[in-house]
Parts: sequence; C-alpha cells; structure tokens
Amino acid sequence: MSGSTIVPWVVGNWKMNPTRAASEQWTKEFKQLLQQTPILAEQCHLAIAPISLALSEIKHQLSGTPVNVVTQDVSRFAGTGAFTGEISADLLADYGIQYVLIGHSERRELLGDEPQVLREKLKLALKAGLTVIYCVGESLEQREQGTAEVVVLQQICDIASVVAPEHWEKQIIVAYEPIWAIGTGKTASAQDAQSMHEKIRAGLLQLTSFGAQIAILYGGSVKPENAKELAACADINGALVGGASLNAQSFYQIVEAFAQ
Ligand code: 13P
Repeated sequence: MSGSTIVPWVVGNWKMNPTRAASEQWTKEFKQLLQQTPILAEQCHLAIAPISLALSEIKHQLSGTPVNVVTQDVSRFAGTGAFTGEISADLLADYGIQYVLIGHSERRELLGDEPQVLREKLKLALKAGLTVIYCVGESLEQREQGTAEVVVLQQICDIASVVAPEHWEKQIIVAYEPIWAIGTGKTASAQDAQSMHEKIRAGLLQLTSFGAQIAILYGGSVKPENAKELAACADINGALVGGASLNAQSFYQIVEAFAQ
C-alpha cells in the first residue's frame, strides 16, 4: 500500500498468448478467485489484454466481474475502410472495448511504432473515448549509458502535442517498463522503479495540472514475490504484468498486493 490517493491498476498483458482453451480456463479460475475474495473498485482496477481475436469472447466471459478488457494495439487509421488487417479506435469503441495499450516496447522495437505512429494512434484512441495505457521504458544500453531518464521523459513528451487537458484528466495511464526487465526475470529494484516513477510524476506535473492524479504502473517481471514491495512505493500506482498474468492464481496474488 502506497498511501497515494490514486486507485491502483493491475493490468495483465497476455501478448500473443494463450490458446482459446487456456484462456477459458483462466477466466473460470479468476472468476472463482474473485468470488471467494472480491476486489472492490475502490481498492484496485483490474484489466486483461488478450489477443484482439479474443477481445469480445473474453469480455463476455468476464461480464459481471470488475475485470476490464484492453486491446494490445489500435490502428493509426480512423473509422472504417480499406485497411486490411487493421482495427480502428472507432470500431473498438463500437464493440465496447474501452482501453488500449499504446507504445509497448515490443511494438516500438519489432513492429514500427515510431513516435509519429504512436501520436497518430493515440490521437484517434483519445478521440474515440478510449483510455490509453501509454508505455515507456529504456533499453539496457540506455540505462548503462546513463540516459534512461532522458529517454523516458522524451517518450512522455513525444505525446504531449496530441493529449488535451481533458485527456490527461481521464484517459491517460502511464506504464513504465524498462525493456531489460521484460520477460527476463530481472525486475528493477523497488527503489530504482520508484526513482524513475518519481521523475515521470515530476514530468507529468510539468505537462498537465492533472499530473498528480495519473496512475503510473510498473511493468517488467512483476510476480507475486515482488508485487508487495513494488506496491509499497509512493509513485507506483499499479502493475502491467506479462508472464505472470497468464496464471490466474499468480495474477490474483499480484492484484491482492496492490489492492491492500
Ligand atoms: P513480463 O511481466 O513478462 O516481464 O512482461 C512485462 C510486459 O511487457 C507487460 O507489458
């Protein structure tokens, strides 16, 4: 527990996982865990980001629970039209999807999500009324060169031109995910994470009068074993969980750590 007034978010990013049968089993187990010990909306917000193919199905399976459904990506093209393979923010909203991840390092590194592309996606997502979980984070090389803070703050500044005051207030969540900690088992120490979160908070306060109320999530090898220590940090307002979110029990334990 951090003492912050921000209600934490715990978001599971399933990436390109799991199979249909495994996700059905997950929702069944997670619903049972919530039934045994419910998580109240004022304690912690919950969300899961499945593959886009499964968004509607998982949303249906989780209806009646506090778990929100998040899309892992959004098109940089608007509305409807001849854009094979794309899903626009407008169509996501039309299908009842209210949250989107933008700027994940895997998309930045592997799938061409340059700052300009991210701005286009973000602009359309915000316009369609979606809440954006905007991911930032430095590489190991950048950390070793001592440029981590500059890199991360630049990633925040990259989007400032397309985020209006009302968006900062209601539609932006930031996730700090140091690339070297993703899927590696190496978590940033709680102190290192808190130190970067503090800098992100200061950056947000300079950009918007709503800077004090924006949730800043930590991501990178979050597990039940380290969740409590991370949750105790003043500026860590939740977690973006990859690997450990694929197991309902582990994900629930992480949620519990932040909900306390
Ligand atoms: P891991 O928790 O598997 O390190 O992944 C973190 C992540 O990339 C979440 O978006």
